[in-house]
Amino acid sequence: MASQRRRHHHYHHHRFHYLVPVISAIFAALLILFCLLSFFAPSPVDPGHLRRPRHQSETVDATTRVSVFRVPVRDSAVAADRIVMFGAREMPNSITDAVKPARSLQVQVEDITQPNRYLVIATSGGLNQQRTGITDAVVAARILNATLVIPKLDQKSFWKDASNFSEIFDADWFISVLSKDVKIIKQLPRKGGKTVAAYHMRVPRKCNERCYQIRVLPNLLKRHVVQLSKFDYRLSNKLDTDLQKLRCRVNYHALRFTDPIREMGEKLVNRMRLRSKHYIALHLRFEPDMLAFSGCYYGGGDKERKELGAIRKRWKTLHISNPDKERRHGKCPLTPQEVGLMLRALGYGSDVHIYVASGEVYRGEETLAPLKALFPNFSSKETIATKEELEPFSSFSSRMAALDFIVCDESDVFVTNNNGNMARILAGRRKYFGHKPTIRPNAKKLYRLFLNQTTMTWEAFASKVRTYQRGFMGEPNEVRPGRGEFHENPSACICEDSEAKKKKESLPRKYGKDVIVSDDQNDDDEPEWPDPDDEEDQKGLQERGIYNGTSLVDYDSITSEEPELEEMLSD
Ligand SMILES: *[C@@H]1O[C@H](CO)[C@@H](O)[C@H](O)[C@H]1NC(C)=O
Ligand SMILES: *[C@@H]1O[C@H](CO)[C@@H](O)[C@H](O)[C@H]1NC(C)=O
Ligand SMILES: *[C@@H]1O[C@H](CO)[C@@H](O)[C@H](O)[C@H]1NC(C)=O
Ligand SMILES: *[C@@H]1O[C@H](CO)[C@@H](O)[C@H](O)[C@H]1NC(C)=O
Ligand SMILES: *[C@@H]1O[C@H](CO)[C@@H](O)[C@H](O)[C@H]1NC(C)=O
Repeated sequence: MASQRRRHHHYHHHRFHYLVPVISAIFAALLILFCLLSFFAPSPVDPGHLRRPRHQSETVDATTRVSVFRVPVRDSAVAADRIVMFGAREMPNSITDAVKPARSLQVQVEDITQPNRYLVIATSGGLNQQRTGITDAVVAARILNATLVIPKLDQKSFWKDASNFSEIFDADWFISVLSKDVKIIKQLPRKGGKTVAAYHMRVPRKCNERCYQIRVLPNLLKRHVVQLSKFDYRLSNKLDTDLQKLRCRVNYHALRFTDPIREMGEKLVNRMRLRSKHYIALHLRFEPDMLAFSGCYYGGGDKERKELGAIRKRWKTLHISNPDKERRHGKCPLTPQEVGLMLRALGYGSDVHIYVASGEVYRGEETLAPLKALFPNFSSKETIATKEELEPFSSFSSRMAALDFIVCDESDVFVTNNNGNMARILAGRRKYFGHKPTIRPNAKKLYRLFLNQTTMTWEAFASKVRTYQRGFMGEPNEVRPGRGEFHENPSACICEDSEAKKKKESLPRKYGKDVIVSDDQNDDDEPEWPDPDDEEDQKGLQERGIYNGTSLVDYDSITSEEPELEEMLSD
């Protein structure tokens, strides 16, 4: 195509003989510029064409597209939209007060812990889903006045990590930080040389205080040792403030990774900081299984349909996929290219350093190339640490996830292409520790924009992205207190100090109202991310006649036909 263009221009200008050398030099320069531009602004066509070989998509009117949709190195319009780029926000700081023991929890733990009541918890899912289970397990033990046994980690989930609790988390720290709240032991006591057998059961999702008293307590009184299995999101989002604060104490203070994980994590953070003062961490979920499961279509044609379709067959109970519907509902993870364009539209220049936390990316380098072109300073665990350094972690998915968790947590800006467990947990954590920016794509809105991008200028595109992303940037007042999933919105643990509040009132209102979001996505009580396990909430069970509000059901009798299905998305 380049030679075509050159021929064309030579034809136009050949009568100005004396100008030929000058003009060819200019055209050569233009050509080089053009090539550079098309490299740095990877033809942001409909993401549907993402994996079409680049030269094909550029044959038609490439020139107009490049001139219309040209991604600038830095978008100067951003300042006008008052987007907070890195770190410090204009908004008042909040102080966290979950560390202070709450009044009603000041009773001595010895006085409330009943002898002969032991709660055993088996968590489920990937590292972050298990984190919610561990957090809620402590609160459940407190509700039941029981002694908690250090939770059992899920070693059989999709992520297949054989590590036990104390290989991921500092168990002694966990026990001692919570010693005023709940009695925690490492192992069940033995009776006559044998450990007492636990009574296994499950509780419904979002079980509240009363639900635990009705369902679990009688078994605990009768059997003394109860094991709650598949324990994740099994505690209501709405609880007494004191219990919510306990949740925060567990999640943000008692759960600490083991020393080797923390040391390696800090090493990675320091290496990122050596490269640049600020860095963005991107949690990119774009694994083949993930894409197959979500039923989305990324424009790879028959090849993609065949590849992902074959993986999809693994889950017999999945509905026939309807990629358009998934996308419309914001359930498709953004492609690496889309994330890159979103970030550039939000004003992050091409010089910004990005740390990418990700598993195996579908079609690997081919898929990552457009993102790398937008952000050439691209790092990952594998590029900033040696194989030897990673060796103690690399065959354990949860330890690797823990390293990414640390680097993402410490980042100046955390961005995800999805709304899974890690995104939610880190969003909550970053709110709790002072509102560091967490960018989550407003996928429902952005998807149309990505479909339309060929028809608009970069300026129009970028401005729309900025509009749609309001309320999805981790601002302090994005979500109303009490709304959303607790681990994602721990508002009960965050209180504004009065001075900051005053300052805030004197500040011009940012978007004209206190709560930025009125968009449906963050308003949902349900997690946005497709997570088949979510369907097992109380409503679902009620509809299926399993949970009718009064009867006690032994959940062991309800085994999932497709256990892997539930774990697929549980990162
Ligand atoms: C736990 O102990 C407290 C304080 O003694 C008591 O009020 C509460 O009813 C007990 N709850 C259970 C489930 O035993
Ligand atoms: C956890 O695993 C380590 C290493 O395999 C082992 O030494 C330790 O006893 C295990 N802890 C528990 C509580 O099973
Ligand atoms: C960032 O990327 C640019 C372009 O590849 C490169 O010139 C520059 O040296 C990189 N900076 C660092 C600190 O790696
Ligand atoms: C996308 O294009 C269609 C048709 O041109 C238009 O109706 C729609 O409003 C556009 N969407 C956005 C987000 O610009
Ligand atoms: C709930 O289920 C139990 C046992 O299946 C049944 O005895 C009871 O009548 C049901 N209650 C309601 C309100 O449907």
